[in-house]
Amino acid sequence: MTQDNRPSASTRSFEEKYVRFRSPEGRAVARAALGTDLANGYTTKDQAAALAGHLGVGTGDRLLDLGAGRGWPGSFIAETTGCGLVCTDLPMEALLSAQENIGALELDASATVLVADGRMLPFGDGVFDAVCHADVLC
Ligand SMILES: C[S@@+](CC[C@H](N)C(=O)[O-])C[C@H]1O[C@@H](n2cnc3c(N)ncnc32)[C@H](O)[C@@H]1O
Repeated sequence: MTQDNRPSASTRSFEEKYVRFRSPEGRAVARAALGTDLANGYTTKDQAAALAGHLGVGTGDRLLDLGAGRGWPGSFIAETTGCGLVCTDLPMEALLSAQENIGALELDASATVLVADGRMLPFGDGVFDAVCHADVLC
């Protein structure tokens, strides 16, 4: 967002990207290259697993994925560690996908999506045990 509350050029470009049709071939390429077709960046499944290990989150913890796009890598970390998850981003289209992707997983803890600007997060101190952001420049 810009200071006058209009979406910035980069936000608009992400909005357009998330709306665009993704072909089955494109998704297959992403799966082959990254190990997932949820990513809208370059973070591979192996890197997401390493990130989960570094964060050290598990059952009872709550993770914030900032700029989560379609829910990557937060949904993977929640799935593999059992932590709770909140995914934030700006484009609604991305978060609708994230919600669908999260809903398709059998997660142990609660997971939700929220439209929020990473520069003005609507959370108090101590709400999260860990934060991740993959390929995000706020
Ligand atoms: C390259 S994508 C990466 C998305 C996801 N983390 C992934 O790896 O697939 C960058 C994301 O950052 C988000 N983003 C950029 N600036 C942001 C901001 N100020 N607040 C929240 N999200 C932001 C974009 O909307 C976009 O979804």
